[in-house]
Formats: sequence, structure tokens, C-alpha cells
Amino acid sequence: MTVTVVTNVGELITNDPEHDVGLLGALRDAAIAFDAESVLWVGAAADVPEGLADEIVDVDGRAVLPGFVDSHNHLAFGGDRADEFAARMAGEPYGAGGIRSTVAATRAASDRQLTAHARRLAAEALRSGITTIESKSGYGLTVHDERRSLRAIGSVTAESTYLGAHVVPAEFAGRPDDYVSLVAGEMLDACAPHAKWIDVFCDRGAFDGDQAREILTAGISRGLLPRIHANQLGHGDGVRVAVEVGAASADHVTFATDEDIEALAGSSTVATLLPGAEFSTRATYPDARRLLDAGATVALACDCNPGSSYTTSMPFCIAVAVRDMRMTPAEAVWAATAGGAAALRREDVGSLAVGKRPDLVVLDAPSVVHLAYRPGVPIVETVWRRGVPVYS
Ligand code: NIG
Ligand code: FE
Repeated sequence: MTVTVVTNVGELITNDPEHDVGLLGALRDAAIAFDAESVLWVGAAADVPEGLADEIVDVDGRAVLPGFVDSHNHLAFGGDRADEFAARMAGEPYGAGGIRSTVAATRAASDRQLTAHARRLAAEALRSGITTIESKSGYGLTVHDERRSLRAIGSVTAESTYLGAHVVPAEFAGRPDDYVSLVAGEMLDACAPHAKWIDVFCDRGAFDGDQAREILTAGISRGLLPRIHANQLGHGDGVRVAVEVGAASADHVTFATDEDIEALAGSSTVATLLPGAEFSTRATYPDARRLLDAGATVALACDCNPGSSYTTSMPFCIAVAVRDMRMTPAEAVWAATAGGAAALRREDVGSLAVGKRPDLVVLDAPSVVHLAYRPGVPIVETVWRRGVPVYS
């Protein structure tokens, strides 16, 4: 296997606590060696072992960081909701109801269209430096359409999430309990073989805490791992249920009480913040400082979906988190890499240490602060996945 050494790295973000240099384990004037399977060596550029490299890439003082790990997206859908967005910017409020218009467009899309669209979005995400991506179903809401949404997702990522409990579809209006039974019964049976995770939108206009608990528990008994959309639109039971069922992550957490924050801080459930959603719905941002200061593990994700956050740009989310949520640039970069890995319970990605997966991003900038300092500028220069340059 070819060994590549990327050298003359101005700032190498390792996220490795072994290097006792701040949250990001940032090394100056560094080098990193890897093959297609794993990182083989990390250290000072001056100390690269002789004879190690088959190929040397000199990045001339640029910053290198782990590929972003984006733990929350909805990539399988038809149509878009640009008109809804424009109306919102003119003063209309955002609500969970808009999901139903994407459900109609998704049911009308062919398998080929769903797959092609999911692939296009995953490729777009890769160009923003995202080398690990999660995606949910949730716009099919029939046994048939949820299963084929998960098949489309399976063609782009192994981090696939069954979200039959996104909203109660129109044909079940007034019969939410029947829909919950379907999601936790026949639909789960059809979808479990195609998913790793199970998610519920536990919020105003969607599902309550008891329904979420029932659905997540059914999923767990079928071998799926729980995660949850919690407290995006209002206070509620989402965070409490997440911690109670041992969810890997509670996502959004826009409305959080002191008890919610304490519960997250005392648990292994990651708080995944989705600034694209507040940006695009003109909502108040989640209180990242309170979560971080309380000791909760925080991740950042794009939440790419046609309703509340139609972005695949992790640098954009980092810029918003720093500017408007008062995360430091280091906290935001950690949250978009190691934090995302924690939210997916992955040990192999999100950091650059010996044995980790060789997924890395080279910036056309000397430090990762530039991700927030140069908003909207495409400074992601090269993306390496599994030791191979996949975008440059
Ligand atoms: O994560 N919160 C629920 N689901 C999506 C929004 C879905 C939509 O509006 O289509 C989210 O923001
Ligand atoms: Fe979401």
C-alpha cells in the first residue's frame, strides 16, 4: 500500500488528547503519514522517519484537520421548498407542517431520482469537507416509501437512520396512535434491515415523549440504536427521553431547561446543535455556552433538509456557531469533527492519531480559525478520504 506523507503543515488538528496542546491537539510545522487504511505516524515535519514515504505532499504551511463528521441530515427527498423559505423571510412562521409537502414530493419521486438526489447532496457535502455523513429517512411515511428512502440512503452512507416518526402523515390525521403503532410495528419490521439508527421528532406538532419512548424502545429491541430530534420548536420531553433511553445524541436542543442541560451533562448523550436550522427559520439559536460550560459534549451538524436547513456546508455552520452561538473557533471545529464522531459513537473518525481513518481536509489557510473568520469563502482546498484525494 502506498504511504503518503503530508508535510509542511502549518497547523495540524489531531483532536488527540495525547498531545497536550489545547482542545484540538494542534501541532505546528507538522506532518502526517497514512496509507489507505489508517494514519501511520503524526509528528513534527522535521522528524518524519526516513524511508516512510512513498509519496510526499508539501502543503506549504496550510492547516490540516480531520474530515468533518456530520451526524444529522435528511438526504432522501423529492422537490424543494424555496417558496416556503421566501415566505418565511417575508414573515411567515416555521412549523413542522411543511414536512408534509416534502412527503408528497418524495412519494412521487422514483427510486432512481431519490438515490441520484441523495448522492448529489452527499457529493456536495464532501466538497465542504464532510467525509462521514449520517442521513435519515422521514419523508416517505409509508412502509414502502420509508424502506425505499433508506435504500437510497444506503447507497451513500452506512450511517442510516429510520425516521418513520417524523410527523403524522395526512392520511392518519386524527389517528396518531394508529400511526405510532405502524411506525413501531410493520414499518419498523420493513426498515430495520436497512438502518443502523432510529430517530423520532419529539416536538410540538410531531410526537410527544410517550410516543417517542414507545417507538425508540421498539427500535432498540430490533437492534437499532436510538437518537432523537429534541426541543427544536418548544420545551418538552425530548431531552429527558433521550437521556432515559441512552440515545447517542439529542439533536437541536434549542429550548432547554436547566434540568435538560444538567441531564445531558451527566450522560453520554451528545447535544448536537444545528445552526443552519435556526439561521433558515429565523429562530433563536441554542445556548451552546450553557451546554459547554455545564460539561455537555456538543456536536455541530448541517441538518441538510429542504425545509429548515438546506445547506451541506459545515464551514458555514462553524461560522454561525462562532459568530452567533459564542462557541470559540476551537470548540466549533472540535464539535464538527470529534463531536460528530461522538454523536455517531464512532472511534475511527473525527481525529487524526495512529490507527484512525485517514480522512482529512487541507484548508487554503494557515489555521482553522479561518473557517469562521472567512465566512462564505471556499477555503476547503483538498479532501482526502481513506487516504485518497477525493476533492481538490
Ligand atoms: O431537523 N425537525 C424536524 N425535521 C427537520 C425539518 C424538516 C422539514 O422542515 O422538512 C429538522 O429541522
Ligand atoms: Fe433533522
